[in-house]
Amino acid sequence: MISGKAKLAGVMGWPVQHSQSPRLHGYWLDQYGIDGAYVPLPVRPEDFEGAFRALPLLGFSGVNITVPHKQTALELVDILDPMARQIGAINTVVISDDGNLTGYNTDGFGFLENLNRGCPGFDPEAGPAVVLGAGGAARAVACSLIAAGVSDLRLVNRTRDRADALAGSIQGPVSVYDFSDTDHALDGANLLVNTTSLGMEGHPPLTISLDALPVQALVNDIVYAPLRTDLLKTAEARGNSVVDGLGMLLHQARAGFEKWFGVMPDVTDDLRAHVLKGMGG
Ligand code: ATR
Repeated sequence: MISGKAKLAGVMGWPVQHSQSPRLHGYWLDQYGIDGAYVPLPVRPEDFEGAFRALPLLGFSGVNITVPHKQTALELVDILDPMARQIGAINTVVISDDGNLTGYNTDGFGFLENLNRGCPGFDPEAGPAVVLGAGGAARAVACSLIAAGVSDLRLVNRTRDRADALAGSIQGPVSVYDFSDTDHALDGANLLVNTTSLGMEGHPPLTISLDALPVQALVNDIVYAPLRTDLLKTAEARGNSVVDGLGMLLHQARAGFEKWFGVMPDVTDDLRAHVLKGMGG
């Protein structure tokens, strides 16, 4: 039940009907008994600026921004968080009482929190990190790993130019390896993260050999459909610790929820099951 004083938030995207965010935030609003609502906001690209600028006028506390608006929104906010500037996209907007819009990117936070919770004691500074991919997700993951103190970040991508461009735009110890040279990238690594769409339902499989990866390394796939990807299964079978990708989605949402509704929510097994059920899992 909400009152006339309910705080408002939502997710702007196009399309938006597959977003799990309303289900996720709705769960927390219920759990914490908060007078608030979180709604899907389907906004076509050509309507985005008008809809975005209307949010303060409508009394919104903030929104999540998803595909395809993450870069456009970055251009329109009044204040940009430094991490969002580095990542080059925003996924969370907070609207102050005087109507100012501040843009954040919480994907890196979600990624690191997921590793910390999924593998307590994991130390990103303990050795090289290998990131497969060079898209938007890879950028958020790479920036957060550099911020967490990784001193040797190795990017591996099918299209070398994209990885070179990403490496060139990140300030930090980043090197690029060809896909055919994955073995060298994995040699001595402390962490392996897949940020490509390979292994996702409806996409080609990820076919890399893990032979060169130390068994002490942590393996994370940001793909969460399926939850246990072939990469995670193979890694687990050879003795590596693994963390699945659903936690990144859940943890990135916590930061926005706290800013809009004033409570830092928890990620529990029950929440995971609730969101998985929404995905038909
Ligand atoms: P996102 O923003 O979600 O990260 P993206 O920008 O489309 O999505 O990036 C997708 C990543 O998956 C890229 O690293 C892409 O590699 P390319 O830069 O070479 O395109 C990778 N990817 C997608 N399909 C692939 C395939 N069949 N083989 C290898 N890599 C693939």
